[in-house]
Amino acid sequence: MAEVLLIGSGNRDKARELATLLEGLPWEVGCLKDFPDVEEPEEDGDTFEVNALKKARFYGAHFGVACVADDSGLAVDFLDGAPGVYSARYAGESCSYEANNKKLLHALAGLPWHERTAHFCCCAAFVPRDGASEHLEIGRCEGHIAVAPTGAGGFGYDPLFVPNGEERSFAEMRPEEKHAISHRGRAFAQLRQFLESYHESG
Ligand code: IMP
Repeated sequence: MAEVLLIGSGNRDKARELATLLEGLPWEVGCLKDFPDVEEPEEDGDTFEVNALKKARFYGAHFGVACVADDSGLAVDFLDGAPGVYSARYAGESCSYEANNKKLLHALAGLPWHERTAHFCCCAAFVPRDGASEHLEIGRCEGHIAVAPTGAGGFGYDPLFVPNGEERSFAEMRPEEKHAISHRGRAFAQLRQFLESYHESG
């Protein structure tokens, strides 16, 4: 039987994206909803790398399985990289995606297009069952913050993020289109390659 690879994310939207990005690997990919409830570890690191590793280590050790986790966020140049690691709670603890988007639009009100540059960053972490050889991959996607939300797909800041080379926001794209260029798509394409060779060498 294939070894279990747990997706260590309590965010259902993200877990769904990750399950798609890990399809077809020689592992039995599972989500947290397939396991007994456990409280999420606190994301108190200063960097995406620290938080991604913290989640993968925690869930992997707790359930005794190999685990992948990511930490991601939006960095806006005009805001000196904010909201960054605080992207999920930019407008306050347990706030909605809409509240975050509203706060961001307010912070950039009146700013011309060329100053609305931003990038998404995703750090993908893998921790094997024995915890021995951890692995990290980083993906980025550059773009601009729109002046108003458009589109109904995706999640989070997707309705406001227009990737370079596109006129549509992430929320207006089909999931495959977003994955092909997104920070998460890139980080997990690299992680997939690593996991394939890791599996072959094991
Ligand atoms: P975390 O990685 O679970 O800490 O949360 C990252 C937060 O960054 C999410 O709650 C979103 O607000 C934002 N974010 C990360 N990736 C994306 C994306 O692909 N689209 C839109 N928002 C994202």
